[in-house]
Amino acid sequence: MGIRLGDVAPNFTADTTDGKIDFHQWKAGSWAVLFSHPADFTPVCTTELGRTAALKTEFDKRGVKAIAVSVDPVDSHNNWAPDIAEVGGTALNFPIIADPDHSVSELYDMIHPGEGDTSTVRSVFIIDPANKVRLTLTYPKSVGRNFDEIVRVIDALQMTDKAPVSTPVDWKPGDRVIVSPAMSTEDAKQKFDGVEEVRPYLRWANAPAGS
Ligand code: BEZ
Repeated sequence: MGIRLGDVAPNFTADTTDGKIDFHQWKAGSWAVLFSHPADFTPVCTTELGRTAALKTEFDKRGVKAIAVSVDPVDSHNNWAPDIAEVGGTALNFPIIADPDHSVSELYDMIHPGEGDTSTVRSVFIIDPANKVRLTLTYPKSVGRNFDEIVRVIDALQMTDKAPVSTPVDWKPGDRVIVSPAMSTEDAKQKFDGVEEVRPYLRWANAPAGS
């Protein structure tokens, strides 16, 4: 069975461009974005890893560490790194796992035989500080991911962890949120600003401060 939301992210040790790591020790108390890409020296992957490097300040602000994985060896990752820096405009600033024996890729079910060869598809796992898997995404090899969406969903997860709210369709930071169905409208008015009941089950509120 694959990895499901709420599961503990399986631990592993692996060689990376930053040396050997134990995944849980490496992320120790941080959020993590663990994502696979099919292969080094490929165009879509080069743009994705460049974008990830450029987002480091945004990830740091949110307490998030990024880490990539592919089945290529560490020498290949190191040889590819200058291309990522030149194309994306930011030097590689996060580790890339080398997984030539497929141990990490198989642990996280990142190789999908129907998607061509035995390289990894574009998987994303967002993992919280308690090592719980909070979001999974799987994209085909031919389609690059939207890393703004990855940052957006981290913002949504971090806010909904802090207050009894949910985020509506297309939510972005600064937009109104939805009060949890478990909370009465009366209680919501005590707790949140700008509560508006449009249906008994749909109450808007201003996003709680500090989220
Ligand atoms: C790419 O990164 O461009 C790519 C890699 C594998 C298959 C298709 C595209």
